[in-house]
Amino acid sequence: MSDISYFTEGRSAEIVSSRNGPGADPRLRDVLGIFVRHIHEAVKEAGIQFLTETGQISNEWRQEFILLSDVLGISMLVDAINHQRPEGSTENTVLGPFYVADAPRYPAGANISLDGKGEPLLVRGRVTDTDGKPLSNVTLDVWQANEDGFYDVQQKGIQPDFNLRGVFETDERGEYWFRSAKPRWYPIPGDGPVGKMLAALDRHPNRAAHLHFIVERPGYDRVITHIFTPDCPYLPGDAVFGVKQSLIATFDRVDDPQKAAEVGLSNPYWDVEWNFVLARKDQVRALAAP
Ligand code: BEZ
Ligand code: FE
Repeated sequence: MSDISYFTEGRSAEIVSSRNGPGADPRLRDVLGIFVRHIHEAVKEAGIQFLTETGQISNEWRQEFILLSDVLGISMLVDAINHQRPEGSTENTVLGPFYVADAPRYPAGANISLDGKGEPLLVRGRVTDTDGKPLSNVTLDVWQANEDGFYDVQQKGIQPDFNLRGVFETDERGEYWFRSAKPRWYPIPGDGPVGKMLAALDRHPNRAAHLHFIVERPGYDRVITHIFTPDCPYLPGDAVFGVKQSLIATFDRVDDPQKAAEVGLSNPYWDVEWNFVLARKDQVRALAAP
């Protein structure tokens, strides 16, 4: 006698859903039923080969599944659902695949551009709560691509390790500052299945120029975000849908040898002042229970 729960391609989604027991939460059962049906359809349509290649190219430094989620708008959608903060707090955007934990901790003012490439940049600002009260001891974990459009982890042995990465902390006035290089737009990796998929869809692979930040302090909702430069041609068409109007900063070009000497940069340099606003955990809309 055949067991109807043996897996077949034709009835795959139905078989997976039939495993739920009589005590299954009805809403979760319905939502996951839809999810499984659609994802199985997508795998059948797109071909398991694509997903296999996506898995095979992934390693410690290369996270092709995150990239896939990003270019399909899934990362931004999940974030929008999970992070509903009060008006005025800094918005989140994609984490991306190039975050590295345990970057060096630096004192205020350090220069994270270890390869010395690109146009010098001063980044400074303040972190406050939603009432405007300065927050000290906030950590700001920063990372960005270099002048050639690559992160250090994409160019092991070419760029210095931890080039353009660092962790800073706000002082008692809630202020932070560091030195770096003005970011420029860059293409997301094009040599794997995701890059090939974008090419086949006639979609460009470019990310609008940005610096990444993770800003956190115990008791506050962690912010994973970017600062975008205002002059980038890819702001409207960012390959991973990561741009939000509220994250586009003003970058001023300073041509003043004395000021440049004071901040330890060569003249001329770029100056961006950027303030972050953190919401307390209890101010963030709780996720609706399933
Ligand atoms: C990034 O900004 O590092 C990034 C984000 C999403 C996909 C690829 C790269
Ligand atoms: Fe990036």
